[in-house]
Amino acid sequence: MEISETIRYIGVEDRDIDLFESQYVVPEGITYNSYLILDEKTALMDTVDSRKTKNWMENLKAELKDRKPDYLVISHLEPDHAGSIAAVAAEYPEMALVGNAKTFAMLPQFFDISLEGRTLVVAEGQELSLGSHTLQFFMAPMVHWPEVMVTYEQTEKVLFSADGFGRFGMPEDDGNWACEARRYYFNIVGKYGVQVQALLKKAAALDIRKICPLHGPVLDENLPYYIEKYDTWSSYRPEDKGVLIAYASVYGNTAKAAEELAELLRENGEEKVVVSDLAREDMAEVIEDAFRYDRMVLASPTYDGGLFPCMESFLMHLKSKGYQKRTVGLMENGSWAPMAAKQMRQILEGMKEITVIEQAVSIRSSLNDKSREELKALAEQIGEAY
Ligand code: FEO
Repeated sequence: MEISETIRYIGVEDRDIDLFESQYVVPEGITYNSYLILDEKTALMDTVDSRKTKNWMENLKAELKDRKPDYLVISHLEPDHAGSIAAVAAEYPEMALVGNAKTFAMLPQFFDISLEGRTLVVAEGQELSLGSHTLQFFMAPMVHWPEVMVTYEQTEKVLFSADGFGRFGMPEDDGNWACEARRYYFNIVGKYGVQVQALLKKAAALDIRKICPLHGPVLDENLPYYIEKYDTWSSYRPEDKGVLIAYASVYGNTAKAAEELAELLRENGEEKVVVSDLAREDMAEVIEDAFRYDRMVLASPTYDGGLFPCMESFLMHLKSKGYQKRTVGLMENGSWAPMAAKQMRQILEGMKEITVIEQAVSIRSSLNDKSREELKALAEQIGEAY
């Protein structure tokens, strides 16, 4: 990736990781971005996952030529970025490590390296001159860990945004940036909307020409588009009008009801209806859709007197990611004692500003005339809830 003559991309691709953070499928892989600023002093902006230390070190040396790094700026200590700190600190013993107080409180938990005499502790708004470039540091706690900070380079007006504006996939796949950026955002940073809003306010005071995140493409045009997406996502506003129907189904009868509801909604003029099988689809993708659309219907069998496991897991994920400000309809199935609607309602009551449609559809094993009437009523109410 090309940033400028003096700001060099030295990141690496990881195309063979099975699950990012041991839970997210990344069919196109992911990049661990890292940058090198060449000036009178040289500054290395983050390292990479230890899976790729060797490749990264080669990239670093190729750009440094016969120079050495003077500073390593540590934006974030999560191992996908900090995983090569020990290796680079050993290779360049005179390099200073730049971080904030929280960075250096946490760093020894990960690495057994001597920090004596080689740390530069920075605070909100502090500047560090490299010559013609000046770095300015802004704290971004909980975007996505407590020690996170972002760095603004004043001369070229570049924001090094840590995980912010990051994305699964390869930089060249940016034809549809939002798809994988949204899945990344809600699953990884979604809980921290308030903190992202605080960071956006700080960013609004800066003249930013390029955003260099720690994953995915460098953003250097149409920046208001990306910032507007982040503003929508972090304020929990629905991005699009539409209905997600997320279902669990043991034998296919609840799945059939979910599809019939989708058909009714479409007949009623609903343009965007997404039906997702929680047992088979990527849970992270379904979570993304839950946040993307303004309404959701949950359909679950009753199982061992509770919810079918994938529905329970989905609801726990939504709760932990801060799902809120939406309208939700419920559909349950039960052959002798349907309980799922009551239990889903109870979990939803623990979330903020969720309107649950009073009348749930209750199916006894498979749809019949009575439950089909309820399905029609739910379709009407979901339509009116927009
Ligand atoms: Fe990409 Fe929170 O690490």
